[in-house]
Amino acid sequence: MSRKSDQILRTKFAERLCHWMIVLCFFLAATSGLSWFFPTFSWLSAFLGTPQMARLLHPFLGIAVFVGLCFMFVRFVKYNLPARSDLIWFRNIRGVLMNRHDQPLQIGKYNAGQKILFWAIMGAILVLLVSGLIMWRAYFAEFFSIPVLRMAILAHSVAGIGLILLIVGHIYLAIWVRGSISGMVTGYVSRAWARQHHDRWAAEIEARETTQGVRK
Ligand code: HEM
Repeated sequence: MSRKSDQILRTKFAERLCHWMIVLCFFLAATSGLSWFFPTFSWLSAFLGTPQMARLLHPFLGIAVFVGLCFMFVRFVKYNLPARSDLIWFRNIRGVLMNRHDQPLQIGKYNAGQKILFWAIMGAILVLLVSGLIMWRAYFAEFFSIPVLRMAILAHSVAGIGLILLIVGHIYLAIWVRGSISGMVTGYVSRAWARQHHDRWAAEIEARETTQGVRK
């Protein structure tokens, strides 16, 4: 079997480009944001040059992450809707965590855990956007009362820390499931990987290939 016929396209170029642009902007927004939490974290603003640059660019980087995630939402929401078969994944969570793949779990393009992460990321970025706009001193903060600003700052901090923790978990799982990072880099995964981790999705792709005559 040639290398090409052994591979399945998992993530298109525009989606991969968007994902990695989000990673860059998120890293810079998160490190600059963390630099304001404690004096011992202040060195983290150095990724954007100076503390002044970090102060200026942080909101724009956050908006860039939001815009990128809007694109990913439109592209991926249909694969992240809850399905009855997600219950099978939850019922077999022990086997999943033990990395056992002895029974078919009817997993679609994304598993139930990835779906939860997807919605948590989307929820957190929405809170960050709204609270961030309210507390943005250069443009909007003057239109809000002090109590509203305090609530916005609290919500922004909680959602920011929450999103950073979610992304740490996301990176850990991406490394743990070998082959998924190269899938997000090249766009392709092997058929064996697809069958092992996303059996229903692999079966759907292969059925489509057979009806289109791409693969016998
Ligand atoms: C170094 C950092 C990161 C790595 C290594 C990474 C890795 C990955 C990989 C491998 C996938 C594809 C999973 C699959 O095909 O099953 C993915 C999907 C995704 N990533 Fe990341 N990621 C990183 C950072 C981020 C950040 C910062 C965000 C958003 C703030 C993000 C949001 C997403 C989303 C929304 C998906 C689609 C998942 C779905 O639709 O359920 N990632 N990531």
